[in-house]
Amino acid sequence: MDRSNAGPAFIPPVHHLAAKQLGSPSSSSSSPPSQNNTRYATRPSHQHYQVPDNHFDIISDEIQAALLDPPSSRRTHIIRDRIAALELTDFGGAIDWEKELMAFAPLDFPEYYRQPFHSVPGGWLSKRAAVYNRMAMQSIYREAHPHSCSGLRGDLVQWVPMHSKFVVDLGTGDGDGAATTAKLRPAARVVGVDASPFMIIAGRRQNREVANLEWRHALAERTGLSDGCADAVTITLVLHECSDEAKLDIAREAARILKPGGVLVVADTPQDDLATYRGFYEPHREAWAKFDPHALFEAAGLVGVSQTTILGGDLKAEADQRAAFESGNTDNRLFVITATKPEHAKL
Ligand SMILES: C[S@@+](CC[C@H](N)C(=O)[O-])C[C@H]1O[C@@H](n2cnc3c(N)ncnc32)[C@H](O)[C@@H]1O
Repeated sequence: MDRSNAGPAFIPPVHHLAAKQLGSPSSSSSSPPSQNNTRYATRPSHQHYQVPDNHFDIISDEIQAALLDPPSSRRTHIIRDRIAALELTDFGGAIDWEKELMAFAPLDFPEYYRQPFHSVPGGWLSKRAAVYNRMAMQSIYREAHPHSCSGLRGDLVQWVPMHSKFVVDLGTGDGDGAATTAKLRPAARVVGVDASPFMIIAGRRQNREVANLEWRHALAERTGLSDGCADAVTITLVLHECSDEAKLDIAREAARILKPGGVLVVADTPQDDLATYRGFYEPHREAWAKFDPHALFEAAGLVGVSQTTILGGDLKAEADQRAAFESGNTDNRLFVITATKPEHAKL
C-alpha cells in the first residue's frame, strides 16, 4: 500500500497551513517532535506522540469504506470543502511546538485514545488536529446559528448555573467552549481539562484574551481536582469518542468533582449521526450507537438525568442523512443531557 496516499482525500490539505503560523518548519503538521533532537533524548515520554504505523492502515480502510458507499461520506466532503475556504485561526504568531511541548509532563494515554480520530494520523496527539479544530467546528455547525459553532457554544452556557464559581470542562480541546463559559460567567474560574498537549497549546493561544480560563493537562477520568470542587462540569463532543469503559470512568470523575447539587452538562451528537461522516474516522462509532445516558449517569451516582435538544433532532436521530446526498447542508444536530449530584451526596 502506498502510505503517502492514506488520508489526504478527506483531511485538509497541508499547504493550507502557513509555515509562519505553524512554526517548526522541519516537521510536517502531524509528525512528532524530532527524536534526533538531543533535548528529546532525555524525554522518552515524547515517544507517545509518534504516529503509530497502524494509523495509516486504519485511515486507508476508512476511506475505502467511504468510497464504496458515497452517501455515507456526504458530510465529510462538505466539511472538508468548508474548512479549506476558511481563514486560518489566529494563534498570535508562530508556534514553537517543540519548545511548548517540552513543558508538558508525560501522560499514559489509554489505547482508546491513541486512535487516528477523524482520519488524522496521530489523532488528537497531532498538530493538525489542534490547528484545524476551530475551523472544523465552525464548518460543522455553520447552519446551526448565525455565528456558527461559536454561537451555539453561547447557547450551551444556559445550563451552567449563573452563580457558578468553579466550572470544569472535561475534554476541552482547544477550549473554545470553556472560553465561552468563562466569558458568560465572568465571576467563575473555568478550568479546561484535556489529554492532548497539542490541543492545549493551540487553545490557550487562540483564547489568550480570556483571563478566567485555566488549562489542565490530564485525562478526563483522572483530573486530579479535589472532591466536590465544581458547581458545574461540562463535557462537549467527547463521549462519542470514548470506549464504554472510559465513558463510565469519566462520568464517575465528573460526579466526584461536582459539589452536592452541582450539575453535569453533556452535549453531543446523536447516536446514529456518525453514519454519514464515513471517511472521517470515528473509532467508537459503534459503541456510541448503543449509548444509554440514563444507565451511564445513574451508574455514576447522578440523578435527574434529562435529555433535551439544542439543535434539531433527537438523541436517536433518523439516519436520513444518507438520503440528502446532494444537499450542501450538514444538517448537524446536537443534544444536551443534564444530570445532578444529589444534595445529600457525601464528599
Ligand atoms: C471533539 S474534541 C471536543 C473538544 C471540545 N469539548 C469542543 O467542544 O470543541 C474532543 C477532545 O476531547 C479530548 N479527549 C478525549 N478523550 C479524553 C480523555 N479521556 N481525557 C481528556 N481529554 C480527552 C481530546 O483530546 C479532544 O481535544
